Amino acid sequence: MRVHTAVVPAAGMGTRFLPATKAVPKELLPIIDTPALQLIIDEAVGAGVDHMVIVTSRAKPAIEAYFQPQPEVIAKLRSSGRDQLADRVEALGRDVKVSFAFQDQALGLGHAVGCAREVVGDEPFAVLLPDELMGSSSLLDQMARLCESTGGSVVGLKEVPHEDVGAYGVIDPAGTLDADGVIPVRSMVEKPKPADAPSNLIIIGRYVLTPDVFDEIAQVQPGAGGEIQLTDALKAQAARSPFHGVVRDVLRYDTGNPLGWLTANIEIALQDPKIGPQLREWLPTQL
Ligand code: UTP
Repeated sequence: MRVHTAVVPAAGMGTRFLPATKAVPKELLPIIDTPALQLIIDEAVGAGVDHMVIVTSRAKPAIEAYFQPQPEVIAKLRSSGRDQLADRVEALGRDVKVSFAFQDQALGLGHAVGCAREVVGDEPFAVLLPDELMGSSSLLDQMARLCESTGGSVVGLKEVPHEDVGAYGVIDPAGTLDADGVIPVRSMVEKPKPADAPSNLIIIGRYVLTPDVFDEIAQVQPGAGGEIQLTDALKAQAARSPFHGVVRDVLRYDTGNPLGWLTANIEIALQDPKIGPQLREWLPTQL
Protein backbone atom coordinates (compact mmCIF):
# COMPACT_ATOMS: atom_id res chain seq x y z
CA MET A 1 0.00 0.00 0.00
CA ARG A 2 1.36 3.44 -0.99
CA VAL A 3 2.44 5.55 1.99
CA HIS A 4 0.32 8.68 1.91
CA THR A 5 0.29 9.86 5.53
CA ALA A 6 3.17 11.46 7.43
CA VAL A 7 3.34 12.20 11.15
CA VAL A 8 5.40 15.11 12.45
CA PRO A 9 5.99 15.05 16.22
CA ALA A 10 5.97 18.71 17.26
CA ALA A 11 4.78 18.66 20.87
CA GLY A 12 8.17 18.86 22.60
CA MET A 13 9.20 21.75 24.85
CA GLY A 14 12.17 22.90 22.79
CA THR A 15 14.21 23.61 25.91
CA ARG A 16 17.44 24.06 23.97
CA PHE A 17 15.97 27.16 22.33
CA LEU A 18 14.64 28.87 25.44
CA PRO A 19 13.71 31.66 25.89
CA ALA A 20 12.68 31.88 22.18
CA THR A 21 10.49 28.78 22.54
CA LYS A 22 8.46 30.33 25.38
CA ALA A 23 6.28 31.80 22.65
CA VAL A 24 7.52 30.45 19.31
CA PRO A 25 7.50 26.67 18.82
CA LYS A 26 10.89 25.30 17.80
CA GLU A 27 9.25 23.77 14.71
CA LEU A 28 8.30 27.24 13.44
CA LEU A 29 11.78 28.76 13.79
CA PRO A 30 12.74 29.86 10.30
CA ILE A 31 15.39 28.67 7.93
CA ILE A 32 15.89 32.07 6.29
CA ASP A 33 12.17 32.90 5.81
CA THR A 34 10.50 29.49 5.93
CA PRO A 35 9.55 27.58 9.09
CA ALA A 36 11.32 24.24 9.53
CA LEU A 37 7.87 22.63 9.71
CA GLN A 38 7.06 23.90 6.21
CA LEU A 39 10.31 22.45 4.82
CA ILE A 40 9.34 19.11 6.37
CA ILE A 41 5.91 19.26 4.73
CA ASP A 42 7.52 20.06 1.37
CA GLU A 43 9.86 17.08 1.76
CA ALA A 44 6.95 14.74 2.58
CA VAL A 45 4.79 16.01 -0.28
CA GLY A 46 7.77 15.46 -2.61
CA ALA A 47 7.78 11.80 -1.52
CA GLY A 48 4.09 11.33 -2.38
CA VAL A 49 2.48 12.17 0.99
CA ASP A 50 -0.92 13.89 0.81
CA HIS A 51 -1.91 13.88 4.48
CA MET A 52 0.20 15.46 7.24
CA VAL A 53 -0.58 14.68 10.86
CA ILE A 54 1.05 17.18 13.20
CA VAL A 55 1.33 16.02 16.80
CA THR A 56 1.22 19.22 18.80
CA SER A 57 0.47 20.44 22.30
CA ARG A 58 -2.23 22.82 23.57
CA ALA A 59 0.65 24.96 24.85
CA LYS A 60 1.77 25.62 21.25
CA PRO A 61 -1.23 27.26 19.54
CA ALA A 62 1.05 28.96 16.99
CA ILE A 63 1.41 25.63 15.16
CA GLU A 64 -2.32 25.48 14.38
CA ALA A 65 -2.35 29.22 13.65
CA TYR A 66 0.29 28.70 10.97
CA PHE A 67 -2.26 26.80 8.87
CA GLN A 68 -5.08 29.34 9.19
CA PRO A 69 -5.86 31.49 6.15
CA GLN A 70 -4.91 35.17 6.52
CA PRO A 71 -7.08 37.04 4.00
CA GLU A 72 -6.02 40.49 5.24
CA VAL A 73 -2.31 39.72 4.73
CA ILE A 74 -3.02 38.30 1.26
CA ALA A 75 -5.09 41.37 0.34
CA LYS A 76 -2.30 43.68 1.50
CA LEU A 77 0.30 41.76 -0.55
CA ARG A 78 -1.90 41.85 -3.66
CA SER A 79 -2.73 45.53 -3.32
CA SER A 80 0.99 46.29 -3.13
CA GLY A 81 1.73 44.19 -6.24
CA ARG A 82 3.44 41.33 -4.37
CA ASP A 83 1.37 38.63 -6.08
CA GLN A 84 4.09 36.01 -6.15
CA LEU A 85 4.48 36.12 -2.36
CA ALA A 86 0.68 36.23 -1.97
CA ASP A 87 0.36 33.07 -4.09
CA ARG A 88 3.04 31.33 -2.07
CA VAL A 89 1.50 32.22 1.31
CA GLU A 90 -2.00 31.38 0.11
CA ALA A 91 -0.89 27.94 -1.12
CA LEU A 92 0.62 26.88 2.23
CA GLY A 93 -1.15 23.87 3.60
CA ARG A 94 -3.43 23.65 0.55
CA ASP A 95 -1.38 21.13 -1.42
CA VAL A 96 -1.86 18.66 1.41
CA LYS A 97 -4.47 17.77 4.01
CA VAL A 98 -3.31 18.76 7.51
CA SER A 99 -4.68 17.10 10.66
CA PHE A 100 -3.70 17.64 14.27
CA ALA A 101 -3.27 15.18 17.11
CA PHE A 102 -2.55 16.36 20.64
CA GLN A 103 0.07 15.16 23.10
CA ASP A 104 -0.78 16.78 26.40
CA GLN A 105 2.40 15.74 28.19
CA ALA A 106 5.79 15.50 26.47
CA LEU A 107 6.35 11.83 27.32
CA GLY A 108 8.80 11.13 24.53
CA LEU A 109 8.92 10.43 20.82
CA GLY A 110 7.25 7.00 21.02
CA HIS A 111 4.38 8.47 22.99
CA ALA A 112 4.04 11.37 20.52
CA VAL A 113 3.80 8.96 17.57
CA GLY A 114 1.27 6.87 19.54
CA CYS A 115 -0.93 9.99 19.90
CA ALA A 116 -1.40 9.97 16.10
CA ARG A 117 -2.89 6.45 16.04
CA GLU A 118 -6.55 7.40 15.50
CA VAL A 119 -5.78 9.89 12.73
CA VAL A 120 -3.34 7.61 10.90
CA GLY A 121 -5.53 4.51 10.95
CA ASP A 122 -4.42 1.05 9.88
CA GLU A 123 -1.89 1.78 7.16
CA PRO A 124 1.87 2.37 6.82
CA PHE A 125 2.93 5.94 7.51
CA ALA A 126 6.03 8.11 7.55
CA VAL A 127 7.45 9.93 10.58
CA LEU A 128 9.58 13.02 10.04
CA LEU A 129 11.34 14.75 12.92
CA PRO A 130 11.22 18.47 12.20
CA ASP A 131 14.59 19.26 13.74
CA GLU A 132 16.38 17.34 11.01
CA LEU A 133 16.11 18.82 7.54
CA MET A 134 17.00 17.03 4.32
CA GLY A 135 18.18 18.54 1.07
CA SER A 136 15.58 16.54 -0.92
CA SER A 137 12.69 14.04 -0.72
CA SER A 138 14.73 11.21 -2.23
CA LEU A 139 15.52 9.38 1.03
CA LEU A 140 11.89 9.36 2.19
CA ASP A 141 10.70 8.33 -1.25
CA GLN A 142 13.09 5.35 -1.34
CA MET A 143 12.07 4.38 2.21
CA ALA A 144 8.35 4.48 1.32
CA ARG A 145 8.93 2.24 -1.71
CA LEU A 146 10.96 -0.20 0.37
CA CYS A 147 8.20 -0.42 2.98
CA GLU A 148 5.72 -1.16 0.19
CA SER A 149 7.88 -3.91 -1.31
CA THR A 150 8.99 -5.58 1.96
CA GLY A 151 5.86 -5.01 4.05
CA GLY A 152 8.09 -4.02 6.98
CA SER A 153 9.23 -0.82 8.67
CA VAL A 154 12.19 1.20 7.38
CA VAL A 155 14.49 3.70 9.08
CA GLY A 156 16.69 6.38 7.53
CA LEU A 157 20.38 5.87 8.37
CA LYS A 158 23.63 7.77 8.23
CA GLU A 159 27.16 6.44 8.53
CA VAL A 160 29.21 8.33 11.15
CA PRO A 161 32.71 7.87 12.62
CA HIS A 162 32.51 5.08 15.21
CA GLU A 163 33.44 7.39 18.11
CA ASP A 164 30.39 9.62 17.38
CA VAL A 165 27.64 7.01 17.78
CA GLY A 166 27.00 7.60 21.52
CA ALA A 167 24.39 10.34 21.06
CA TYR A 168 22.13 8.38 18.69
CA GLY A 169 20.06 5.29 18.06
CA VAL A 170 22.34 2.76 16.33
CA ILE A 171 21.27 -0.27 14.29
CA ASP A 172 22.50 -3.83 14.67
CA PRO A 173 22.72 -4.93 11.02
CA ALA A 174 21.56 -8.38 9.93
CA GLY A 175 23.55 -8.21 6.68
CA THR A 176 25.51 -5.82 4.55
CA LEU A 177 24.62 -2.67 2.62
CA ASP A 178 23.49 -3.39 -0.93
CA ALA A 179 24.15 -1.19 -3.98
CA ASP A 180 20.97 0.84 -3.26
CA GLY A 181 22.11 1.61 0.29
CA VAL A 182 19.63 -0.84 1.84
CA ILE A 183 20.57 -2.94 4.85
CA PRO A 184 18.51 -5.47 6.85
CA VAL A 185 18.21 -4.58 10.54
CA ARG A 186 18.24 -7.15 13.35
CA SER A 187 17.85 -4.70 16.24
CA MET A 188 18.67 -1.24 17.55
CA VAL A 189 20.28 0.27 20.60
CA GLU A 190 19.74 3.79 21.94
CA LYS A 191 22.88 5.86 22.76
CA PRO A 192 25.42 3.01 23.11
CA LYS A 193 28.99 3.44 24.33
CA PRO A 194 31.08 3.48 21.11
CA ALA A 195 32.92 0.33 22.24
CA ASP A 196 29.60 -1.55 22.57
CA ALA A 197 27.92 -0.15 19.43
CA PRO A 198 26.85 -2.85 16.95
CA SER A 199 27.62 -0.58 13.94
CA ASN A 200 28.37 3.02 12.99
CA LEU A 201 24.97 3.45 11.29
CA ILE A 202 22.83 5.92 13.22
CA ILE A 203 19.08 6.39 12.84
CA ILE A 204 18.29 9.84 11.50
CA GLY A 205 14.88 11.44 11.86
CA ARG A 206 13.04 9.63 9.07
CA TYR A 207 10.93 6.50 9.51
CA VAL A 208 8.35 4.63 7.45
CA LEU A 209 6.43 2.39 9.82
CA THR A 210 3.84 -0.33 9.54
CA PRO A 211 0.80 0.35 11.73
CA ASP A 212 1.46 -2.56 14.11
CA VAL A 213 4.01 -0.19 15.67
CA PHE A 214 1.09 1.39 17.56
CA ASP A 215 0.52 -1.85 19.47
CA GLU A 216 4.24 -2.02 20.24
CA ILE A 217 4.26 1.60 21.48
CA ALA A 218 1.36 0.76 23.79
CA GLN A 219 3.51 -2.04 25.31
CA VAL A 220 6.67 0.05 25.84
CA GLN A 221 7.60 0.57 29.48
CA PRO A 222 8.49 4.20 30.27
CA GLY A 223 12.22 4.76 30.75
CA ALA A 224 14.10 7.59 32.49
CA GLY A 225 11.84 10.62 33.10
CA GLY A 226 8.73 8.62 32.12
CA GLU A 227 9.70 8.83 28.44
CA ILE A 228 8.35 6.29 25.99
CA GLN A 229 11.08 5.66 23.43
CA LEU A 230 10.21 4.99 19.82
CA THR A 231 13.36 2.86 19.51
CA ASP A 232 11.94 0.32 21.99
CA ALA A 233 8.82 -0.15 19.84
CA LEU A 234 10.97 -0.48 16.69
CA LYS A 235 13.16 -3.09 18.38
CA ALA A 236 10.07 -5.20 19.03
CA GLN A 237 9.03 -4.86 15.37
CA ALA A 238 12.51 -5.78 14.10
CA ALA A 239 12.48 -8.92 16.27
CA ARG A 240 9.51 -10.40 14.42
CA SER A 241 9.07 -8.68 11.01
CA PRO A 242 11.22 -7.62 8.06
CA PHE A 243 12.96 -4.37 9.02
CA HIS A 244 15.39 -2.35 6.90
CA GLY A 245 17.50 0.76 6.95
CA VAL A 246 18.43 3.01 4.04
CA VAL A 247 21.65 4.98 3.75
CA ARG A 248 21.46 7.66 1.13
CA ASP A 249 23.78 10.45 0.23
CA VAL A 250 21.45 13.36 0.90
CA LEU A 251 22.21 16.73 2.48
CA ARG A 252 21.12 16.71 6.12
CA TYR A 253 20.97 19.52 8.65
CA ASP A 254 20.50 19.05 12.38
CA THR A 255 18.56 22.15 13.40
CA GLY A 256 17.50 20.96 16.87
CA ASN A 257 20.07 23.06 18.71
CA PRO A 258 21.10 26.71 18.27
CA LEU A 259 24.49 26.01 16.65
CA GLY A 260 23.05 23.47 14.19
CA TRP A 261 20.16 25.80 13.37
CA LEU A 262 22.53 28.72 12.77
CA THR A 263 24.94 26.75 10.58
CA ALA A 264 22.01 25.32 8.55
CA ASN A 265 20.77 28.87 8.01
CA ILE A 266 24.21 30.00 6.84
CA GLU A 267 24.78 26.99 4.56
CA ILE A 268 21.35 27.29 2.96
CA ALA A 269 21.54 31.10 2.71
CA LEU A 270 24.88 30.83 0.90
CA GLN A 271 23.06 28.91 -1.86
CA ASP A 272 20.16 31.38 -1.97
CA PRO A 273 20.16 33.41 -5.21
CA LYS A 274 18.80 36.53 -3.47
CA ILE A 275 20.91 36.81 -0.32
CA GLY A 276 23.72 34.33 -1.05
CA PRO A 277 26.00 36.74 -2.96
CA GLN A 278 25.88 39.43 -0.24
CA LEU A 279 26.36 36.88 2.53
CA ARG A 280 29.38 35.46 0.68
CA GLU A 281 30.95 38.92 0.63
CA TRP A 282 30.20 39.71 4.26
CA LEU A 283 31.07 36.38 5.90
CA PRO A 284 34.88 36.50 5.38
CA THR A 285 35.00 40.01 6.89
CA GLN A 286 33.95 38.47 10.22
CA LEU A 287 36.75 35.88 10.37
P1 UTP B 1 13.54 16.76 20.63
O1 UTP B 1 13.96 16.06 21.86
O2 UTP B 1 14.59 17.24 19.69
O3 UTP B 1 12.64 18.04 20.95
O4 UTP B 1 12.48 15.87 19.87
P2 UTP B 1 12.34 18.81 22.27
O5 UTP B 1 12.16 17.87 23.41
O6 UTP B 1 11.23 19.75 21.97
O7 UTP B 1 13.67 19.68 22.39
P3 UTP B 1 14.67 19.98 23.60
O8 UTP B 1 15.54 18.75 23.70
O9 UTP B 1 13.85 20.23 24.83
O10 UTP B 1 15.40 21.19 23.14
C1 UTP B 1 12.41 15.74 18.45
C2 UTP B 1 11.01 16.10 17.96
O11 UTP B 1 10.04 15.32 18.66
C3 UTP B 1 9.05 16.15 19.23
C4 UTP B 1 9.68 17.54 19.38
O12 UTP B 1 8.67 18.55 19.29
C5 UTP B 1 10.65 17.58 18.23
O13 UTP B 1 10.04 18.10 17.07
N1 UTP B 1 8.63 15.58 20.54
C6 UTP B 1 9.57 15.22 21.45
C7 UTP B 1 7.29 15.42 20.79
O14 UTP B 1 6.40 15.74 19.95
N2 UTP B 1 6.90 14.92 22.00
C8 UTP B 1 7.80 14.54 22.94
O15 UTP B 1 7.38 14.08 24.03
C9 UTP B 1 9.18 14.71 22.65
